[in-house]
Amino acid sequence: MPDTSRPHISHPGTTNNVDYLIIGAGVAGLRAAATLADHGDVLVVTKEALGESNTNYAQGGIAVALSGPEDIALHLKDTEYAGDGLVHRPAAEILVTEGPRRVEELIQWGANFDRHGNELLLAREAAHSLPRILHANGDATGAEISRALLAHARQHPRIHFADWTMLHGLIVKDNRVIGATLLTHTDAPNPALQRISARATLIASGGAGQVYSDTTNPAVATGDGIALASQAGAELADMEFYQFHPTALALPGVPRFLLSEALRGEGAYLRNAQGERFMERYHELLELAPRDVVARAIAREGIAVDSASGASIELPVYLDLRHLTSIDLTERFPGISRFLAQHNLTLASDLIPVRPAAHYLMGGIRTDLDGRSSLKGLYAAGEAACTGVHGANRLASNSLLEGLVFGARAAGAILADALPAEEPQQSELETQHGSEPLDAEAQAIAAELKTMMWRHAGLLRDEAGLRSGLDLFWPMLERYESLADKAQPTRAIIETGSLLETAWMILKSALERKESRGAHFREDHPKRNDAQYAQHSIVNDEGVVLYEPLG
Ligand code: SIN
Repeated sequence: MPDTSRPHISHPGTTNNVDYLIIGAGVAGLRAAATLADHGDVLVVTKEALGESNTNYAQGGIAVALSGPEDIALHLKDTEYAGDGLVHRPAAEILVTEGPRRVEELIQWGANFDRHGNELLLAREAAHSLPRILHANGDATGAEISRALLAHARQHPRIHFADWTMLHGLIVKDNRVIGATLLTHTDAPNPALQRISARATLIASGGAGQVYSDTTNPAVATGDGIALASQAGAELADMEFYQFHPTALALPGVPRFLLSEALRGEGAYLRNAQGERFMERYHELLELAPRDVVARAIAREGIAVDSASGASIELPVYLDLRHLTSIDLTERFPGISRFLAQHNLTLASDLIPVRPAAHYLMGGIRTDLDGRSSLKGLYAAGEAACTGVHGANRLASNSLLEGLVFGARAAGAILADALPAEEPQQSELETQHGSEPLDAEAQAIAAELKTMMWRHAGLLRDEAGLRSGLDLFWPMLERYESLADKAQPTRAIIETGSLLETAWMILKSALERKESRGAHFREDHPKRNDAQYAQHSIVNDEGVVLYEPLG
């Protein structure tokens, strides 16, 4: 549950400058804050209550190789295999070799992972060649990591939090990011703008699952950090690679609740409408094939064409755990069991309807191995960043580890770069006026955008679909621009702008990559084409897509 116990907003003193500004209070932001706070004042900004982040919702766990060099080498091999030829090897090497140290540190800071006696319990998930996933409270790993990091941060007098506060824009002077404009009190009828200067700004605001109508991500995941970094001139990378989690709950009118891959790790089957276990037709690893393969298989099994009318018919696809009689499924998956019980479903006895949903953005703000973006003074870590560590498809449960490892490294780079303090900004605290009618229109545009993205830039793409998506995109953008000109900035206005910007990057990058690789599947180019596309796509500040190696 999000933490609502802190005061509404707590900026450091009354000043409007800070040493280090961190946008996002998930695993990457909090891990960076822990290092930076030994060297200066840190302000961590979070859009809703503390704890409301993608991190908090991660169920399955954190992948880590704790048994020495062979284990580490195998973790690297699995990460590269899932990434389908696009993993930036130096980044993945860092992930798997520094991961164990970061997880041990987290345990020292109080994170409780599930154990049998003293032994940590290890689960298996798709495309992992052996069990290596730590979990907490069965299926609430992200919430436990978030709890432990927040408790650690609270002990530090130089870490300050601003909750219900979001990024409105980055302030750039002489090609250097020197601070940001923040929208504060986003939950109140009259939010306010505040400028703040910082020696360094770290974007750790997570992904953008809300760009799709079907997503496992919480409402806060609207890609603001990525979109606003891009608007400030930072390069983005690999924006066509959006991972769709294969198994989100598929009940009408119910949010696409995540049904962890750990269910299949424990042995769950996938069945189609005829009750057939179909994965053998798609991959030798069956239900534990890489996530993109399973997601596409479910999408294909979940659709049929009516022979009389030619219309598409949706068919159910199910997770089936009824044969797993030796496991107490309610004990192993308490959170999932509770949610399903609200809908009269039980893991042990029911077929659970599933379908894929947008889950994780492999692309993001292009960074080096230490979180430096293409703009001086601006750093990124976690899902908002693209180091290339996941390539074209993230290995399950690598993202919490990514946040820890690259959050710590970004803090190290910020300290090493030692950028000088900037003049405090003119605060320009402005009271906002009511803007409900404009918020409603912004939300209507966002809703149309999400449906368009699901249909035209979802799991199965082709040139005609992506072009139709772009045709629909431009009128939405025009409507938004005329609206944004008149509107006072509010959360809805900023978020819709960010979603539009993110959607455009995805559409444009997906159109340019005329091959299929990892999570990006083009029906008109179904093969991987290493000769032309074994490189990362970069969107530069003029909106041009280039192909380059990372690093
Ligand atoms: C899951 O539990 O299936 C999600 C974990 C992840 O996305 O890595």
